[in-house]
Amino acid sequence: MKFFVDTADVDAIAELNDLGMVDGVTTNPSLIMKSGRDIREVTKQICGMIDGPVSAETVALDSDGMIAEGRELAKISDNIAIKVPLTWDGLKACRVLSGEGRMVNVTLCFSANQALLAAKAGATFISPFIGRLDDLNLDGMEVIGDIRTIYDNYGFETQILAASIRTANHMKEAALIGADVATAPPAVIQAMVSHALTDKGLDAFLKDWEKTGQKIL
Ligand code: G3P
Repeated sequence: MKFFVDTADVDAIAELNDLGMVDGVTTNPSLIMKSGRDIREVTKQICGMIDGPVSAETVALDSDGMIAEGRELAKISDNIAIKVPLTWDGLKACRVLSGEGRMVNVTLCFSANQALLAAKAGATFISPFIGRLDDLNLDGMEVIGDIRTIYDNYGFETQILAASIRTANHMKEAALIGADVATAPPAVIQAMVSHALTDKGLDAFLKDWEKTGQKIL
């Protein structure tokens, strides 16, 4: 499973990238706001840091506006994936932009039917939002599983990009169910390393090592 980092925080991206944990980056208007930076400037910097796709989101509501914004965002770098919302206009924009050979990430997906439409419209990535479905007592992971089955049934090449990931368990479940990509905040990726038994075991080893009085270096 590929890891995308869901942030516009360049320091956090750099830290994970140094460990080989970054196959791509996703941003959205809320994350750009959180960064406090200009969308073109911060997106360009991120695109220069990594080889993989960097999603930048359009904000127009009509397809012509999304297409124009998408073309503008794509000028930032060759590795831009244009993010459009899962609306009828978003699907129209997806069709046109993907027809131009651009990467398109269709976002704000909450159902398998929406994902089926996005695949038929030529999406490179479909972004089902797990956490926001779970927030409503629905099963976000079940939607990912349904999309996996449908895409595999018909050989759609659209990549399932599990989004709105909130916990390390979401990452494991997304991997088990066969999501192609998971995008998560840096803190969630870092949380995947934690295990109480690792900490406990390390503590015990170090205490015993101290008793030996030996040194390695
Ligand atoms: O990739 C979409 C993601 O940023 C949404 O996450 O936590 O705001 O639902 P969240």
